[in-house]
Amino acid sequence: MTKIANCTILVTGGASGIGRLMGDMCMQEGAKQLVIWDINKDKLIETTREFRALHYTIHPYFVDVSNLEQVVMTAEKVRTEVGPVDILINNAGIITGNQEFHEFTHEAVEKTMAINTNALMHITLEFLPEMIKNGRGHIVNISSAAGMLSNPRMSVYCASKWAVFGWSESIRLELEKNRTGVRVTTVNPSYIDTGMFAGVKVNPLLPLLRPEKVAARVIRAIKFNRIFVRTPFMVKTLPFTKGILPVRWFDLIIGKWLGVYRAMAGFSGRKN
Ligand SMILES: NC(=O)c1ccc[n+]([C@@H]2O[C@H](COP(=O)([O-])OP(=O)(O)OC[C@H]3O[C@@H](n4cnc5c(N)ncnc54)[C@H](O)[C@@H]3O)[C@@H](O)[C@H]2O)c1
Repeated sequence: MTKIANCTILVTGGASGIGRLMGDMCMQEGAKQLVIWDINKDKLIETTREFRALHYTIHPYFVDVSNLEQVVMTAEKVRTEVGPVDILINNAGIITGNQEFHEFTHEAVEKTMAINTNALMHITLEFLPEMIKNGRGHIVNISSAAGMLSNPRMSVYCASKWAVFGWSESIRLELEKNRTGVRVTTVNPSYIDTGMFAGVKVNPLLPLLRPEKVAARVIRAIKFNRIFVRTPFMVKTLPFTKGILPVRWFDLIIGKWLGVYRAMAGFSGRKN
């Protein structure tokens, strides 16, 4: 069982949303210190102030995870100013727009892949070697239900999250094979009520999840070395339903009748 107590935790995108909640919960579990990486300066300052008021040891870093130079430089700073990271939660992510793929711009494709996919690999590359050397550590990669399910008007986001799923599971297999002691958890939640997917059309199969509930499930997964967090139940059943249903039936039953493919119809997202 991975202990959180006395560990150093790094959460990317930890200034708001489920990132902030997961950081808070780790500190409540007795973590030694929390490193927060975020691009939103105001939220970073606010969260740091509020956490310090709770007597947490916080190390905030203003960083754009899609900028490789900043990632490498900030990781070096963390190693010298804070020390080794025991638990890395790769959480920062974005969704750009609500359009079909032919309406996308090259810039939006690059940005989404850089933040949602490439950043996780680059950041992990910075901290994993030390975890392997120490014979312990835990990497949490926040993918999405969209990393297991294709969805119209969400193609680039889906691409970025499917990639995370494949990479995350591959490194888990490598780290297990080499008996490194480093654990990997891949997280695939459907819509969470943080504002990121504001306006999205939910349905009984994929209801809007409470952020606190999702964050708590991730923390439990770290403690009990779970390979996956898939929530709600429908996400857990995806490999099975996709495996047994012919694709046109899946499109018709899950996509059309149950409304899963219409989710982006009302999406507005965050205004800023
Ligand atoms: N909200 C959902 O419905 C939902 C569902 C499934 C998966 N997820 C995933 O969960 C993760 C967290 O989502 P959330 O709902 O808490 O989002 P959020 O928007 O509330 O928080 C994301 C945080 O990441 C930060 N961030 C964004 N781009 C960054 C960058 N380039 N560099 C550094 N920090 C950056 C933001 O400033 C913000 O603090 C994301 O990876 C998201 O894709 C969210």
